[in-house]
Amino acid sequence: MDSIYDRRSIRKYLPQMPEKALIDEIIRAGIAAPSAKNRQPWRFVVFTEQAKTELLREMEKGLRRELEGEALLPEVRGGLADAFHTMQIMHKAPVLILVLNPDAGSPFDAQNPTARFAEIADTLSIGAAVENMLLKAAALGLGSLWIANTCFAYPELTAYLRTDAQLVCAVSLGYPDEAPAARPRKSPGDVTEYRS
Ligand SMILES: Cc1cc2nc3c(=O)[nH]c(=O)nc-3n(C[C@H](O)[C@H](O)[C@H](O)COP(=O)(O)O)c2cc1C
Repeated sequence: MDSIYDRRSIRKYLPQMPEKALIDEIIRAGIAAPSAKNRQPWRFVVFTEQAKTELLREMEKGLRRELEGEALLPEVRGGLADAFHTMQIMHKAPVLILVLNPDAGSPFDAQNPTARFAEIADTLSIGAAVENMLLKAAALGLGSLWIANTCFAYPELTAYLRTDAQLVCAVSLGYPDEAPAARPRKSPGDVTEYRS
């Protein structure tokens, strides 16, 4: 329970590689999450060392294409600088876990409302799993970062993975080399309305 309040997004990591047993424990925590219809719509691909470097080479190709070539997300081009920064963090983090939904397709494909509702439920389930993973990482003394900036390199990353599954997000892991203060939060009163 303390991890709920003590966890921070960690963007600086020590080079030391966490033991595989810790990564396995973090994934077990993810799998313990609730999921819509118990579909457990998550797959995890763990990248370290050379495999991570190769993956990030593909991410860089995608970010450069968005910046200099055919942008698939032109409305959010302003977010590209942040995405390049996130990629540098991913280079320094010893472990990178890509999180996939095997039951959903590319977000660039058209979708009917039934499929969209199913995808929303699956994405919520995946969010619960990822939060469990971040909390378990914090409890084990590891730092983590939840990453959605993979979206800018969506075609490059999924082609590299050779998957039709939906790439939902990534999580970087490693021993923290910073201890950031809590970022501001809205108060319960700002975001809650009681009706009776
Ligand atoms: C779905 C999701 C995607 C995120 N994507 C990124 C990202 O790509 N790069 C990054 O630096 N931080 C990313 N973050 C981290 C947020 O910036 C961070 O959670 C927020 O600023 C609150 O800070 P805290 O996690 O330390 O409490 C993401 C967080 C979430 C939940």
